[in-house]
Amino acid sequence: CHRAKVPFFLDICRWAENAYLVREREPGQGTRSIPEIGRSFFDLADGVNMSAKKDGLVNMGGFLATRDRTLAARLRERLILYEGFPTYGGLARRDLEAMAVGLREATDLDYLQHRVGQVRFLARPARAPGIPFVHPVGGHGLYLDAKGFLDHLPDEELPGQALSVELYREGGVRSVEIGAVMFGEGTATPHLPPLVRLAIPRRVYTASHLAYAAETSPTRLGTDGVR
Ligand SMILES: Cc1ncc(COP(=O)(O)O)c(C=O)c1O
Repeated sequence: CHRAKVPFFLDICRWAENAYLVREREPGQGTRSIPEIGRSFFDLADGVNMSAKKDGLVNMGGFLATRDRTLAARLRERLILYEGFPTYGGLARRDLEAMAVGLREATDLDYLQHRVGQVRFLARPARAPGIPFVHPVGGHGLYLDAKGFLDHLPDEELPGQALSVELYREGGVRSVEIGAVMFGEGTATPHLPPLVRLAIPRRVYTASHLAYAAETSPTRLGTDGVR
């Protein structure tokens, strides 16, 4: 990026979860703190964008940050058009305060262990017998492989969307298709295998909610019922 003079921006909405996985999986990282690991990737970037609904632990809001003061000034001008003045724009002060707290709390190891543990709990093969999903699971949810699940549905019948709708009809479980529908690319998307994401909101569900989602919906869904 630097050679081509293209600013390098990171989408850091799940940075703390990712740092947790780095700490857990990469040799030599196991004794570093989450902020230290984060610092090593933030140092590489010219800027970041953050949807703080994720690792900012807030209901709404986010930010864009850059080391480039000129760009920051231009972005502030644009902000006035889209959000309001930086001092009293789309995010009220209480939301900014909540974000300041959330950004710190999201680096707590016990919190992260619980958070990533919930994804693993949902994925435990015993809880999802015969359900094809993407391995290994990451830090925020389970990605069901819709085609592996609904092999009787051709691409043009949007198996990902069909599975997502059926999960809701069967168990009231809200998921999202990640494929032709989300990316608006029609049905001819051989490069996009249709997935269905079961993302787990932070600090919302208990183990029994997850057990319900894992056991009730997918396992009860016979492929016959999915149109
Ligand atoms: C990596 C990543 N960036 C950005 C977003 C968008 O966040 P928002 O819904 O706040 O626009 C998402 C949403 O899931 C995401 O996964």
